[in-house]
Amino acid sequence: MLKVENLYKQYRTDAGTVEALKGITFEVQTGEIYTLLGPSGCGKSTTLRSVAGLETASSGEITIGNLTVFSGTRGINLQPERRGVGMVFQSYAIWPHMTVYQNVAFPLVRGNRNVPKAEVKERVLNALSLVQLEGMADRPSPMLSGGQQQRVALARALVYEPKLLLLGEPLSNLDAKLRVEMRTEIQRIIKRLGLTGLYVTHDQEEAMAISDRIAVMQDGIIQQEASPGEIYADPVNAFVAGFIGKSSFLEGTVARIDDGLVHIDVRVESSPFTLSCRRDAAPEGIRMGEVLNIMIRPEDILVGDPDTAAAGANVFHAMVKSSTFTGGRSSCELMAGDVCILAELHGQRILAEGERIKVGVPVERLKAFAL
Ligand SMILES: Nc1ncnc2c1ncn2[C@@H]1O[C@H](COP(=O)(O)OP(=O)(O)O)[C@@H](O)[C@H]1O
Ligand SMILES: [Mg+2]
Repeated sequence: MLKVENLYKQYRTDAGTVEALKGITFEVQTGEIYTLLGPSGCGKSTTLRSVAGLETASSGEITIGNLTVFSGTRGINLQPERRGVGMVFQSYAIWPHMTVYQNVAFPLVRGNRNVPKAEVKERVLNALSLVQLEGMADRPSPMLSGGQQQRVALARALVYEPKLLLLGEPLSNLDAKLRVEMRTEIQRIIKRLGLTGLYVTHDQEEAMAISDRIAVMQDGIIQQEASPGEIYADPVNAFVAGFIGKSSFLEGTVARIDDGLVHIDVRVESSPFTLSCRRDAAPEGIRMGEVLNIMIRPEDILVGDPDTAAAGANVFHAMVKSSTFTGGRSSCELMAGDVCILAELHGQRILAEGERIKVGVPVERLKAFAL
């Protein structure tokens, strides 16, 4: 179990103070994979490094299991090796002059640790089998592929039998196919060993695939924390919506509120139209004339008759800017006036570029955010 409470971090630089973390709080349960997701500079690495003990936060508290490893107020700051964490980072940090075995054994034999030789052997071989590198123990490290090197790094993180595994963009240096393979493997190992996993990535697809819960970060704060499904279906603001999955945004003015619906006049060039969403899919306390940002997910777009009938009143006209058939579905860009809307069409008609079409979005699929 990991608990991070009200973590702040200021970096002092020649150019002034950088507020990297502005009150980060979260808890990760045993057996859970929790991912910090966000654009470059949002504070993911600073958070991860603070948990590892490689960075000293300015204030706040970090608890691993029953052990307080950092407390600003109580002046506690344990050394990284006393925190009982395993770490895997983007750069594998595999020592090239050592064999696979020596690399993995390193955490057990460095300094004056007195782990008996037989136990070292047992634990190293065990860790190697966990990452499916049995039989590779004597291989010189430079003779490994990128994927195998990352497996060695993972085995080395696991050999100390940590309760908490910290993973900082561990797949960034791998090609697309290996990335998918390794993330499944990391997930399997964390679940099987009952570890607690803190994962950092800027890749939303990777985050969705590996995580039990995701925290979307921006500028040193957590904007939303939820399961992948919840965060996709119900983002709290336009930043989260834009960062998770694909979506298009349309600006409009609140024209009417009735019967549990909000009707919004969309201001696109040449052909204005009105879209309606459910009252609870719009911000609280909105007023007439307020400008909102309407989000449309590509898979919620319906095209042509009779499909658009399901959309009720939410129908408008658009021109097909591009249409790419990718087998079983097509990805399209639709122009509504001067605004481009992405559409992902399944089993619907393949559209021709330049075609003018009727577009529908079901009322219950729309969300509107404050600007
Ligand atoms: N050693 C440092 N000195 C000064 N500023 C830093 C340092 N490390 C990170 N920062 C700044 O702190 C903020 C958060 O950085 P970081 O945690 O690395 O973000 P991320 O990992 O999400 O890209 C950024 O504005 C970054 O420029
Ligand atoms: Mg980083």
